[in-house]
Amino acid sequence: MSRVAITGGAGFLGSHLCERLLADGAEVICVDNFVTGRPENVEHLLTNRRFRLIDRDVTEFLHVPGPLDAVLHFASPASPVDYYRLPIETLMVGSAGTRNALGLAQAKGARFLLASTSEAYGDPKVHPQPESYWGNVNPVGPRSMYDEAKRFAEALTMAYRKARGVDTGIVRIFNTYGPRMRADDGRAIPTFISQALRGEGITVAGDGSQTRSCCYVDDLVEGILRLLWSDLPGPVNIGNPHELSILDTAVLVRDLCGSRAPITFIPRPVDDPTVRQPDITIARGKLGWEPKVAVGDGLARTIEWLERELVGAAHSRAA
Ligand SMILES: NC(=O)c1ccc[n+]([C@@H]2O[C@H](COP(=O)([O-])OP(=O)(O)OC[C@H]3O[C@@H](n4cnc5c(N)ncnc54)[C@H](O)[C@@H]3O)[C@@H](O)[C@H]2O)c1
Repeated sequence: MSRVAITGGAGFLGSHLCERLLADGAEVICVDNFVTGRPENVEHLLTNRRFRLIDRDVTEFLHVPGPLDAVLHFASPASPVDYYRLPIETLMVGSAGTRNALGLAQAKGARFLLASTSEAYGDPKVHPQPESYWGNVNPVGPRSMYDEAKRFAEALTMAYRKARGVDTGIVRIFNTYGPRMRADDGRAIPTFISQALRGEGITVAGDGSQTRSCCYVDDLVEGILRLLWSDLPGPVNIGNPHELSILDTAVLVRDLCGSRAPITFIPRPVDDPTVRQPDITIARGKLGWEPKVAVGDGLARTIEWLERELVGAAHSRAA
């Protein structure tokens, strides 16, 4: 049985990874300080004897008793709303937090996997983005606390690999959606869904022609675990190459929600990337991975979940 520690395990992606690792028979130690994650995301796992939840800020100190086969470092604010609100925390978890997680992997002789991001490519001038592209990032721009934290974390990971012999991997995650995203986390899909379900106008940034390639969470988790249990150092892109404009995404969400809400246009954030699409040649060739869930199916599952969340929130307000 493998024993795995995951930082940020009570977040959106982390909680799905905990669930899947437990289903695969692993023992899982989840470390989180709930700065953007929620205890409810992992509440249903607490009765599992192979699951342990530790409430800790990983920038301070990270110790896990006993042996470990793998350390997954997923702790970090991830949505623009969160990292704008928490700029220093974001830089610290990318720097000191990554150092502590790498130190833990080194001490245990465990494989280390860093959750990096497509934001490492910034507003890309190469399309789609292969891992060999170095990116176009503004180091002092409004998103720099996130982009540069992740780029530093990648560099630190490579340094621990070369200088300390840690078995490391880096996954560059592209936009992902699915159940457990927060309705108010500011990312396009949960925003559109909650606006459509509430019968509000759907707000599209700019003219909506900018594109994103969104991956359903189950597909992403499969790709991450294949990389985790491989010996590839990465970086490896994991994401869905199916590209949609933001406006088409808004229309699709509105139709799937059965809403007739109007679509309105709001100013586009500074340094908002114009295009995003992963080149997944490496993931396909070396991990035999590609996404399987069609966007309509993934959105329907996400809508169903957010609908339950919004009804639950309305009931607790009324009580
Ligand atoms: N969701 C995506 O589309 C996406 C895309 C690219 C990269 N990523 C990366 O994947 C990881 C998870 O993203 P997510 O979407 O699940 O975000 P999330 O905000 O839902 O999860 C992040 C988790 O990390 C925890 N955390 C943050 N700082 C911490 C600290 N100092 N100590 C302990 N815990 C801390 C939060 O409480 C939260 O539970 C992040 O590293 C993010 O950068 C996500």
